[in-house]
Amino acid sequence: MSMKADFTQGFVRDHWYAAAWSGEVGEKPFARRILNERIVLFRMADGTVGALEDRCPHRLAPLSMGECAEGGLRCGYHGMVFNAEGQCIGIPGQDIIPPTARTRAYPAIETYGLIWIWTGSGKPDHSRFPHIMGYGEDGWAMLDGGYQHHAGNYRIEIENLMDPAHTTFLHKETIGNKAAKDVPVHVAQGDKGLTAFRWIENVPPTPLDQKSHDFGEGRVDRRVAFNFELPATSFVDIAVIPAGMERSEDNLMHGGIRTFSYKFLTPETDRSTHFFWLHLRNYRKGDQQLDAILRGNLEKTFNEDNEMVAAIQREQEETGLRQRTAIAIDRAPIMALRMIDRMISAEQEQSDVAKASA
Ligand code: FES
Ligand SMILES: [Fe+2]
Repeated sequence: MSMKADFTQGFVRDHWYAAAWSGEVGEKPFARRILNERIVLFRMADGTVGALEDRCPHRLAPLSMGECAEGGLRCGYHGMVFNAEGQCIGIPGQDIIPPTARTRAYPAIETYGLIWIWTGSGKPDHSRFPHIMGYGEDGWAMLDGGYQHHAGNYRIEIENLMDPAHTTFLHKETIGNKAAKDVPVHVAQGDKGLTAFRWIENVPPTPLDQKSHDFGEGRVDRRVAFNFELPATSFVDIAVIPAGMERSEDNLMHGGIRTFSYKFLTPETDRSTHFFWLHLRNYRKGDQQLDAILRGNLEKTFNEDNEMVAAIQREQEETGLRQRTAIAIDRAPIMALRMIDRMISAEQEQSDVAKASA
């Protein structure tokens, strides 16, 4: 069997994508390429955020080379000003504003410390906005602001993130766990995505688990769930409870320790991805030493993933293939990619219908 490389297969557009951490967008406009489009993010005088195509309709000067101005963003070439809806609201030296003096605007929302933009062509669908569990809740410690630029198509990233089996081999020094090597992975599909999970049962707690919760002399059951939410959010949910404890939702939340590790993937181009990460845990809040250790481990882990993803991207480009054989652990990644394909076709059909009836 041979599967063709599919890094040119397009993107889901009807989605809120993470575009930048709030702190990345200050007094100066900020340029970022998203879904192959050049976008500029900026702040209005009251601090609210705008997102426009990064291209002045006059002579196509990148608006990110301009400056924030009263009411919007001023082009750095001849000073036309555009508001957050993309409408020109001022042209130096003339009163009349031609109807063509506008640029594409992207609906933008700032929440969870991130700026999100809606890249679809129709009205933004707020029901598709991501929800981050534990965020801002009592007792939850958070590491945020994590960003990496990854040199691979987002599909290769999703294959990586939905594949618990690679952690033993690629992340030996950080999250790899030999005890997990032969434990089978279960896959469950829902409306919004899917989960690949396994229980690693009756094992000694790791030194970090032991330090973080009193498991006594006992052993633990550890559930690791790799969740995928369409089209490009991953969160790993880890629960560690005393071995044999009933696996109720309440026990998973309070009987031991719990971690949520979120990654928001935003395709940059066909061959690169913005990787935003955020990590929440319900133990040892305020422990700065642990914060630093975790941050270092996570960054190292994600760098290892990026190194592998980038190498695979290169091989796919050289061969035009995605894979030549399939093994059992491919189940969740293949299901995730099929769900994305279905979403892209549905969007395509909808836009064809819209075009035909226009
Ligand atoms: S290129 Fe922007 S105002 Fe002329
Ligand atoms: Fe990994």
